Amino acid sequence: MKLFIDTANTEEIRAAAALGLLDGVTTNPSLLAKEIERRGRGRQEEIFAEICEIVPGPVSAEVLAADYEGMVREGREIAGIASNVVVKCPLTEAGLRATRTLSEEDIAVNVTLIFQPIQALLAAKAGAAFVSPFVGRLDDISAPGMSMVADIVEVFGNYSFATEVLVASVRNPVHVLDAARLGADVATIPYGVIKQLLHHPLTTIGIERFTADAKKYTG
Ligand code: G3P
Repeated sequence: MKLFIDTANTEEIRAAAALGLLDGVTTNPSLLAKEIERRGRGRQEEIFAEICEIVPGPVSAEVLAADYEGMVREGREIAGIASNVVVKCPLTEAGLRATRTLSEEDIAVNVTLIFQPIQALLAAKAGAAFVSPFVGRLDDISAPGMSMVADIVEVFGNYSFATEVLVASVRNPVHVLDAARLGADVATIPYGVIKQLLHHPLTTIGIERFTADAKKYTG
């Protein structure tokens, strides 16, 4: 499973990239706004270009337009920023039309805000490179987000779509484990959760004990 980081915070992206495990980045308008607030300045396009330089893998940025023409125009502009750009379009009628147009121009599209499996099927049929089911936001309303991912993986397994299942709105390590067990192609993970994945109390205690024992017989 590929690991993406779900943030526009360039310090977090550099730290995650330094681990040597980072395959890509996903951003959204809320994450970019948060990064501009953290810096106290900046424009979305500048921050996005910076992220594309830090990480060679796919970097998703979302269109803001709600209409087809606007999405296609913005998508082409975003795609011009760097060769590793993926254009994020929401799962709406206009978003699906824009996905078809942009993907036919060889622009990779990540169809976002997916909350049920048939939306994912429609996005795959429109030519999406990625579909982003939001698991945490479904869990928030007492609907099991991971059941949706299981259904998408099953449906895609019946056909030969090149579309990758990118599990988004990940909130905790169990979401990551479940995504991997289901065979999702990608999980996009906030930095805080990436750090949680690295730590286990028994690993820490084990190191302390080994170090203490070794010190008994070494100078
Ligand atoms: O990848 C989508 C993600 O940014 C949304 O996460 O936690 O705001 O639902 P969240």
